[in-house]
Amino acid sequence: MKLEFAALNIPLARCLQTAAVLVGLFSFLLMAQVCTGIMAMLIIYDYWFLYIPYLTWFYFDWQTPEQGGRSVNWVKNLTVWRHFKDYFPIHLIKTQELDPGHNYIFGFHPHGIFVPGAFGNFCVNYSDFKKLFPGFTVYLHVVSCWFRCPLFREYVMSLGTVSVSKKSISHVLSKDGGGNISVIVLGGSKESLEAHPGIYNLCIRHRKGFVKIALTNGASLVPVFSFGENELYNQVSNPEGSWLRTAQNRLLELTGLALPLIYARGIMPYRKPIYTVVGRPIPVQRTPHPTPEQTEQLHQTYVEELRKLFDEHKGKYGIPEHQTLVFK
Ligand SMILES: *[C@@H]1O[C@H](CO)[C@@H](O)[C@H](O)[C@H]1NC(C)=O
Ligand SMILES: *[C@@H]1O[C@H](CO)[C@@H](O)[C@H](O)[C@H]1NC(C)=O
Ligand SMILES: *[C@@H]1O[C@H](CO)[C@@H](O)[C@H](O)[C@H]1NC(C)=O
Repeated sequence: MKLEFAALNIPLARCLQTAAVLVGLFSFLLMAQVCTGIMAMLIIYDYWFLYIPYLTWFYFDWQTPEQGGRSVNWVKNLTVWRHFKDYFPIHLIKTQELDPGHNYIFGFHPHGIFVPGAFGNFCVNYSDFKKLFPGFTVYLHVVSCWFRCPLFREYVMSLGTVSVSKKSISHVLSKDGGGNISVIVLGGSKESLEAHPGIYNLCIRHRKGFVKIALTNGASLVPVFSFGENELYNQVSNPEGSWLRTAQNRLLELTGLALPLIYARGIMPYRKPIYTVVGRPIPVQRTPHPTPEQTEQLHQTYVEELRKLFDEHKGKYGIPEHQTLVFK
């Protein structure tokens, strides 16, 4: 009897997981447009007066995404996120103890197509984060334009995200007490154009802002590599110099929108495990006015540590020995 029940439960569980991933994809790919659509409908159908209370709220709440945000426990706790995590599934791996008396910046790589590893590990209440890193509060920093979108901003903030602006990161890392972690997907959406299975290209060479923020706040830098992130979708080949990449780069410059042409199972990603490995912290001395040399040096140390992290762990996740990171 029990066996039969389990057999019935497997397809059900998979169904729920698929639905949960659809919710996740919808949330991050379409929700902003839908929210904007709702606001537009209100004007078209003469309900514009409903704007007044919301816009008043918006006005007074403008700064919140740069001041620690407003996470809402029950939203982070929704069962849908457990199914979301189990779809791939997503795992979090710690390699070294962190001291809750310090603040840390987690540099998250790679961006992949839609970064489920960052969301599943650092936003929702079903990862091992609390168990592995007791005493820490974690903030996932996302593009600030999300917080300018009415209604959508309330939703993404409730999941514990905050703006990626310098002011916002400094707000999380500036106090002496410690115990805060800023997670930043350093390659940004540009890196999604590099997200091909078996390819490990990271856009990091020209990203120096995070190093300066680490120095000014004395926050330790921790490289984080999420194995499996690039395996979730196939992407139409777009090597540097191809007409497709040229068009994609142009679009990115003009609108800030990266548009990788993906295919997997429709829009569904493959069910492939994600292993997010948190590396060794690089201690950083607080330096209120870092010189370009100090910034450059720390950046170099970071990139070396990131390379080491990848090389030490790649074998466990089926990546061949000759495969290395490429920094762009
Ligand atoms: C942690 O982040 C919150 C939200 O931004 C902030 O209020 C608090 O002061 C931070 N604590 C430290 C020690 O930086
Ligand atoms: C979150 O869910 C757990 C069990 O799934 C429950 O024990 C806890 O009270 C919930 N917390 C909130 C704030 O809803
Ligand atoms: C979810 O959050 C509640 C508090 O709201 C906490 O008691 C519980 O341990 C959390 N569960 C997990 C799996 O993190």
